[in-house]
Amino acid sequence: MADLDVVLVDVCKTFAGDTKAVIDFNAEIEHGEFVAMLGPSGCGKTTTLRMIGGLEDVTSGQIYLTGKNVTDLPPSERDTSMMFQSFALFPHRSVFQNVEFSLKMRGQSLNERQQSVWDMLAMIGMSELATRYPRDLSGGQQQRVALARALISRPAVLLLDEPLGSLDFSLRQAMMVELKKIQQELGITFIMVTHSQQEALSMADKVIVMSDAIIQQTGTSREIYERPKTKFVAEFIGNNNLFSGTVRSRSGSVVILQRDDQLFYIAEHGFSSDIGIGSEAFFSVRADKMHTNRQEDMANQITGKYIATEYIGSLETDVFEFGNNHFVHVEQHRDAVKRNYTVGQQVDIYWPAGDGVLLAKS
Ligand SMILES: Nc1ncnc2c1ncn2[C@@H]1O[C@H](COP(=O)(O)OP(=O)(O)OP(=O)(O)O)[C@@H](O)[C@H]1O
Ligand SMILES: [Mg+2]
Repeated sequence: MADLDVVLVDVCKTFAGDTKAVIDFNAEIEHGEFVAMLGPSGCGKTTTLRMIGGLEDVTSGQIYLTGKNVTDLPPSERDTSMMFQSFALFPHRSVFQNVEFSLKMRGQSLNERQQSVWDMLAMIGMSELATRYPRDLSGGQQQRVALARALISRPAVLLLDEPLGSLDFSLRQAMMVELKKIQQELGITFIMVTHSQQEALSMADKVIVMSDAIIQQTGTSREIYERPKTKFVAEFIGNNNLFSGTVRSRSGSVVILQRDDQLFYIAEHGFSSDIGIGSEAFFSVRADKMHTNRQEDMANQITGKYIATEYIGSLETDVFEFGNNHFVHVEQHRDAVKRNYTVGQQVDIYWPAGDGVLLAKS
């Protein structure tokens, strides 16, 4: 475990009243990695983060930080720092005093701590506001001070709970870039909790998707986006069309599913699935992988009833109804296909076998 900063082995948390908040959480996080924990409200993200920081006991399992078993150690003996979901700054301390706080607690003299505080303020672009009080700062500036306060002690691992949650859209975009840059400059391992898939996918080296206390999938952003493993991940990550059918046959690496008179062809991508002939299976196809003009090697064809078009800049998403209340989204560049559908019109939709992703049952 030489270069692993954080290792969780079968970590479980059950609260009084038998609330299972985290079940069998396993993760290996390398030094300097930016990891995002992504999932809906109540799935156990904050609880997991608090267990890593030592603010919550584990019910069972082990936690290792930089190679050392810290499962039973208090927060003060763990090399972590946490930025909370609601990042309250000390209202009666200036920006400088907020940032220097943990160094002061450690007993560093003003002389010792001054340089590190000024360096940190420079890094977050707040040197000129060092004497301001939190109430006189914008939301984004407060967020930066909270970040600086958490980073000043140079922890091995920074735990961030929804650090951008309270910011509006454009500020969040800007802070995302800044956070990533700071993380790279300091080379500190970041574990960030979020329920925004956009935040997770755009910032993290590794994404852990959770639902209902369990890990659904761990992978790079690309893996999560392009190869969701489960139905939950495919639905949560969005932009995916979900289909199901009965497995009819396999020929080479292609699995053939049937739903009523419709056949689907899906090329398996390496990981062996537990999907046997005759069983029900789900698969997903991203909206941007579907087309309304047939091209070579597009094995799949369905017919949908045109409902509406959603405009997103130069992309357009046409929505079709395929079967009762089953909507299929097809995202294409505006100029890619000449089309002028009328509501209710039957339209053929195509995609290659390679763009379908078979999903595990859970
Ligand atoms: N101290 C506690 N006592 C009992 N149950 C708790 C406690 N803390 C959390 N829970 C429960 O554990 C589950 C996970 O909570 P947690 O705060 O980890 O979720 P989360 O993924 O961070 O959600 P959110 O996105 O809303 O912040 C929830 O069902 C929650 O109600
Ligand atoms: Mg939370």
